[in-house]
Amino acid sequence: MLVNSKKMLSNAKKKKEVVFHFNINNLEWAKCILEECNELKTPVILGVSESAIKYMGGYDVVASLVYSLITDLEIKTDVCLHLDHGSSVESCIRAIDAGFNSVMLDMSKKPYQENVEKVSEVVRYAKNNDVSVEAEIGSMGQISGDSLQLGTNTNLEDCKNFVKDTGIDAVAASVGTVHGIYKGKLNIDYKLIENLYNEIDKPLVLHGGSGLSIETLKKCKEAGITKININSDIQDSWSKAVRNFIKENPDVIDPRKIIGAGFQAIKDVVREKININK
Ligand code: 13P
Repeated sequence: MLVNSKKMLSNAKKKKEVVFHFNINNLEWAKCILEECNELKTPVILGVSESAIKYMGGYDVVASLVYSLITDLEIKTDVCLHLDHGSSVESCIRAIDAGFNSVMLDMSKKPYQENVEKVSEVVRYAKNNDVSVEAEIGSMGQISGDSLQLGTNTNLEDCKNFVKDTGIDAVAASVGTVHGIYKGKLNIDYKLIENLYNEIDKPLVLHGGSGLSIETLKKCKEAGITKININSDIQDSWSKAVRNFIKENPDVIDPRKIIGAGFQAIKDVVREKININK
């Protein structure tokens, strides 16, 4: 069933479990993730970036694709369709109008007051449409090549005020992770996660979940993270499987066989991550 993320995240927060957000790029990604989560009987958030939306054709295409897969594949588990890193109020409204159940407005690089004002605007629109809202405070680090440019970890007091001032349903906090697969050792601030968990009434979101060991993901969960976003790990596994397939089968031209060679790799990543709740 399609739902917003409020109930799935508040249930998980109470049990100190994690709901995974997996980014989708196309029909195949959505299908594999839905099938695997349905088999594992676990709720899931399908995150879609604006660039992935553009790639697939638009907000309506994405919504109808996900809605139709849920019907045709008879998916029974709860699914939330979420706009990842929305860059403007307009983009969030467009997603909500298309049928997304959850949106993120990322104004984390803007001054505090502007972040609050824009996010509050989205919250007002979202509430009238039963849609949940995530927003970010603090800023994530960036990987460029093999080097890491550190971000600014979320400040506890700012975060408390931000949640109160905006009325958001989930807060993305910067605690030392980066988007993408960083090969070096990251300095994750588990104490900060614990403090945020104890003092903030809303679920905490960890962006940049790829490249972290299962042990690290479990430590983040135990410290108080409720939602973990995964994108690059799936892309990495899928592309390795497809590259191998093409190398070993240079004469195959059927795109279903080539693209499909990576399906099990997508499912394996999904299963491996979800199993941290066991
Ligand atoms: P990764 O690519 O590091 O998994 O990050 C995904 C993410 O945070 C999407 O919002």
